[in-house]
Amino acid sequence: MSTRTFLIGAARERPCTLVVCRGCCCGDPRKHPGTDHAWQLERLRAAGSEHGFQVRTTDCLGPCDQANVIVVQPSAAGRRAGGRATWVGFAMDDDCTEEIVQWAAAGGPGLARPPVTLELQFIQPPRDARVRSRR
Ligand code: FES
Repeated sequence: MSTRTFLIGAARERPCTLVVCRGCCCGDPRKHPGTDHAWQLERLRAAGSEHGFQVRTTDCLGPCDQANVIVVQPSAAGRRAGGRATWVGFAMDDDCTEEIVQWAAAGGPGLARPPVTLELQFIQPPRDARVRSRR
């Protein structure tokens, strides 16, 4: 007998979601002065509005030594297709930001292949990782 998950209501249509860490280290210009963190978040939000994916922020996700951390969560359709939450580390520069936008705009995990150079920045989530987010 197989176990199947059925999604109802809004979860059934949930879009790809970027969970952007803005905790104690990620997004802190004193710790990472070479990056325009505010611009990065604005860029992701603008692209989300344009392409139909969601962007949320969260407190510290754990791997501060790999800041900035962004988790790309699959859409409901992407999850049904086998996509899983993908953690991106060292998401500091414009190229990485644009590659995350491209991937999410194309559908994200389960629906589109990530850019090869972005794959090099995939990191292991902490063992007890649970992504909670705030707006
Ligand atoms: S502040 Fe982002 S992982 Fe800790």
